[in-house]
Amino acid sequence: MSDLNSFIFKNSPKWLDNYTAHWSAPSNIALVKYWGKQDPQIPKNPSVSFTLDKCRTHTKVYFQKQPHPQESFLFEISFDGIPKPEFKPKVQSFLNRIKDYVPYLMHYSLYIETSNTFPHSSGIASSASAMGALAACIMDLEVQLDPLQTPSYTTQKTSFLARLGSGSAARSIQGPIVGWGQHAKTPSSSDLFGVKIENTHPVFSRFCDSVLLVDKGQKAVSSTLGHNLMQGHPFASTRFEQARGHYGQLIDILKNGDIESFVQLVEKEALSLHAMMLTSEPQYVLMQPNTLHIIQSVWEYRKKTGRQVAFTLDAGANVHLLYPNDIKELVQSFIENDLSSFCQNGAYIHDQVGTGIKKM
Ligand code: PMV
Repeated sequence: MSDLNSFIFKNSPKWLDNYTAHWSAPSNIALVKYWGKQDPQIPKNPSVSFTLDKCRTHTKVYFQKQPHPQESFLFEISFDGIPKPEFKPKVQSFLNRIKDYVPYLMHYSLYIETSNTFPHSSGIASSASAMGALAACIMDLEVQLDPLQTPSYTTQKTSFLARLGSGSAARSIQGPIVGWGQHAKTPSSSDLFGVKIENTHPVFSRFCDSVLLVDKGQKAVSSTLGHNLMQGHPFASTRFEQARGHYGQLIDILKNGDIESFVQLVEKEALSLHAMMLTSEPQYVLMQPNTLHIIQSVWEYRKKTGRQVAFTLDAGANVHLLYPNDIKELVQSFIENDLSSFCQNGAYIHDQVGTGIKKM
């Protein structure tokens, strides 16, 4: 059930006059990175991520039935209780993209209230959790209108819709480990939605992720622009091949629990992602001096202690440190004693892998 047509709502809805949906969705951190796409939000290579637990967006949507179907979407949005008209264009383009799949939405006005559990302007990308939570609220309404829908279809379509808001959001619906993008190694995988990676080694279902906040500012180059710069990039096809290879290797590692290989692969992915930025036209650098200080310190720490801590980066200067739960106390004191000085105002967030969206 992975063709576009299967995601179009075709049943006759059991209309409700008012409905309030309240969901939270987590952020995720990619292990194999998605970088480069084609319309409509189809990834150039498959990716895999850890779903996070504490870094989440909470969203409440008040749906109000309108006497007649609307020509264009009627909606308002607030963030932390404050109206945010500046968020409307992003939501508007998301709603336009999903419109054909959720035709019933034209019969409702939407009042969207949203907030994040992580500090505003922490430099943590919130688009995955934000689009995940909004998609979950819309699908909650859909289930009310079509109560016979199966839970597995609902989950798949939630990821499908979230993907149309932000590619990586496709991976924030389930957990603890999700793949997005077709790859022979995961027979159920699809370019259209994320799928849970099954039968992984238990060490990975309790993995920790500490986010070291190196730079809380806005990114100099958005990820939308970054994805576009992969078109015509001199290393694009090599990079997509590399990522496809890494996907296959990582699936084996996730099943056999080989942490040393995990560390090597995850770091290679992070540096390859940033290598694409360094060699784009125009070229740009999102890492900062403290990003590199942290990377060096992690390498020294690993060499000195033999403890398997890996760094990874998303499209920004912040560093995610990934490590098994059984060395949590040791690694967290390393962060406090040796790495927090490289963080803006000493700030970091200890998170861990989680299970995906939650109804509130
Ligand atoms: O979902 P987007 O368009 O914000 O892109 C996310 C890109 C990376 O975070 C760098 C990699 C990934 O796979 O999440």
